[in-house]
Amino acid sequence: MSSIRSVVRQEAIGPVLLITIDHPPINATSHTVRAGLVSAVDELSRRPDLAAAVLIGAGSTFIAGADIREFGQPALEPSLPAVMAAIEACPKPVVAALHGSALGGGLEVALACDARIALKGTSLGLPEVTLGVVPGAGGTQRLPRRVGLVRGIEMVGRGERISANEALKLRLLDAVVESELQTQAIALATRLDGRKCRIRDEAVPPTDEQVVDQAAQAVAKAGKRRPAVLAAIELVRDAARLPFDEGLAKERACFLKLRDSTEAAALRYQFFAEREATRLPRELNAQPRLLKTVAVIGAGTMGSGIAIAALDAGITVILLEQDPEALQRGRERVADHYRQRVAAGKLEATQASATEARLSTSLDWALLAQADLVIEAVFEDLAVKQEVFRRIDTHARPGAVLATNTSYLDVDAIAQGTNRPQDVLGLHFFSPANVMKLLEVVRGAQTAPDVLATGNALGKALRKMPVLCGNRFGFIGNRIYNAYRMQCEFMLEDGAWPEDVDRALEGFGFAMGPFAVADLSGLDIAWRMRRARAAMRDPRERYVPVLDRLCEQGRLGRKADRGYYLYDNGKQVRTTDADVRAVIEQASAERGITRRALAADEIVRRALAAMVNEAALLLAEGVAQRAGDIDVVLVQGYGFPRWEGGPVFWARQQNRASLDAEMLRLGDAVGFGFVGGDLSRLLEVPAPA
Ligand code: COA
Ligand code: NAD
Repeated sequence: MSSIRSVVRQEAIGPVLLITIDHPPINATSHTVRAGLVSAVDELSRRPDLAAAVLIGAGSTFIAGADIREFGQPALEPSLPAVMAAIEACPKPVVAALHGSALGGGLEVALACDARIALKGTSLGLPEVTLGVVPGAGGTQRLPRRVGLVRGIEMVGRGERISANEALKLRLLDAVVESELQTQAIALATRLDGRKCRIRDEAVPPTDEQVVDQAAQAVAKAGKRRPAVLAAIELVRDAARLPFDEGLAKERACFLKLRDSTEAAALRYQFFAEREATRLPRELNAQPRLLKTVAVIGAGTMGSGIAIAALDAGITVILLEQDPEALQRGRERVADHYRQRVAAGKLEATQASATEARLSTSLDWALLAQADLVIEAVFEDLAVKQEVFRRIDTHARPGAVLATNTSYLDVDAIAQGTNRPQDVLGLHFFSPANVMKLLEVVRGAQTAPDVLATGNALGKALRKMPVLCGNRFGFIGNRIYNAYRMQCEFMLEDGAWPEDVDRALEGFGFAMGPFAVADLSGLDIAWRMRRARAAMRDPRERYVPVLDRLCEQGRLGRKADRGYYLYDNGKQVRTTDADVRAVIEQASAERGITRRALAADEIVRRALAAMVNEAALLLAEGVAQRAGDIDVVLVQGYGFPRWEGGPVFWARQQNRASLDAEMLRLGDAVGFGFVGGDLSRLLEVPAPA
């Protein structure tokens, strides 16, 4: 274990004490750091030769937050508030010198100092609500004294991260410098000439109550009224209502209570699961191949989204098609995207044109020879994809990585179209491909490790979360989602209406219920797949014909203004339709089911049980490497509420006997062909690495 002295170093530079926190990877405010800071501040107070101090981080960052792993453990003194109290009680000024990230406890420490200076590019924020807690060391009380209540509510309630330049405008910083942070910070400390400037002594700038209310409502809504978000808003408002120390005490109590909640545990679990999921297993460790130019084949919804994602990452993109009009539409979609970003003030016009200049569009596949990686995003049809891969094989240079964006098809069967199956993998993007973070990296039977490493590296370059999956129908996400949707269809036949199911699952926290999602994506996609698989289906399997019948009536979803619901001109507002109820009732009658109402709790438990069972099967089959990967996929790609941790985390919170009973009921509901997974391995919590 590192000593306090090595983690927080002290060095007198003339009359300024340089306090350096050296606690990789993120200089977290762990116990040794807190103790080291208190000791350094004590040194500053005691030594008459010292007039001020500069607090700086070694390595790539200032303090990027509390050590989240310590949240689940008993607190050790000194606490972070004790560190702040020591800095504020010290009669000499302390300057915080920020670079990299000053987040959470890091920004709180900086706010307790007497002045702050940052290197350009520093990111500042109080992201605690994203971990289900509120700042616990004065962040909610000190921040609004500088930025005001509205920005305070927004920053804390949304866990916003802002740039150094914005922080300067908001008076959180005294200066932003391009270089020489340490020297400039020492100069600033000297200029203070012994003056203390404690934010705690300042008043919160007055703001009209109605304006504050509006901000509070907007932030609460955006934050789905999660407990930490609501608490954060109230605490920021308290900064203007309560004496400083009272506000501080209330904040600390609230932090400690939320820290021990299941919701906070779920969010911490997701934080680490995300980082772990994007790491390839050790046996697949390999150097990624060179990746400068990407060719995308198919300029449809996915192809143009993938092209934008790659362009944004600084990659040169060649977009290819078979159809000149589709190519034109794809090019327009990309151009439109950049036009809108410029119009919204999110991108400079010059940057947009420089980015678009890296895109070339063509019908000439000979250009494939220039690509380091090819991503196919044509129609979801095996024969079409195999033919496309045959053509790719004739043009692509040796060693190029060849990827398919298939949603369900067999990656090995697609690879057979080439003479180089070792270079082929699946890269399953989610729609919209330039927005969604999840990327399933699918390993074919012969995919080479460095090809997987290249897929993983591409995902990271695109700022996505690449998760390794085995090559089985639906990979991780669609396989689980299919089981879930099928269970929801059974519930329709058993007695629920689409709105009952959607409302229950939205109440649980899904961004959208399954029938609203189906209407949004278009029912024809599932209809086409059902017909393609009809010959493989055993007639003894339970099969709900509702979707097929809706499609036969032209009810293809939102794009047709009718699906499971009625829509008014493509608008979001969905209304129940008696015709749909008749189709559902007929399906129940054909199966001889006496319809009964299903309570929201039963709906949620049945739907989640289907997910959990499929998750157990995926883990046993090796399609998912780790249980946590499944949770990351569901949260990042399918709208599963992050604060519930994912289906596996949810299952681990349940009483085992009632979960087993739920699995038996699931088996009954599915009937013929049901395969029950082994929950024991899924529910085992791995020991910390
Ligand atoms: N506590 C404990 N470990 C942390 C941590 C924290 N607050 N923040 C990051 N880490 C660990 C990560 O798990 C990772 O460890 P690993 O290499 O063993 O997987 C390592 O630090 C690097 O983090 P990573 O996110 O992979 O690096 P990055 O350079 O992409 O991002 C940050 C760095 C600091 C911007 C990012 O990690 C972050 O946002 N952290 C959370 C900050 C936060 O919420 N602070 C408030 C806490 S109350
Ligand atoms: P799309 O119909 O919008 O686009 C497909 C494009 O491919 C069309 O522009 C078409 O002209 C082109 N194309 C078809 N055959 C071609 C060929 N032989 N050569 C060159 N171009 C050809 O489809 P999409 O929604 O973008 O889906 C593309 C792929 O991505 C499918 O495999 C699909 O399963 C997968 N996918 C789709 C989504 C989604 O939500 N739309 C999500 C993940 C994955």
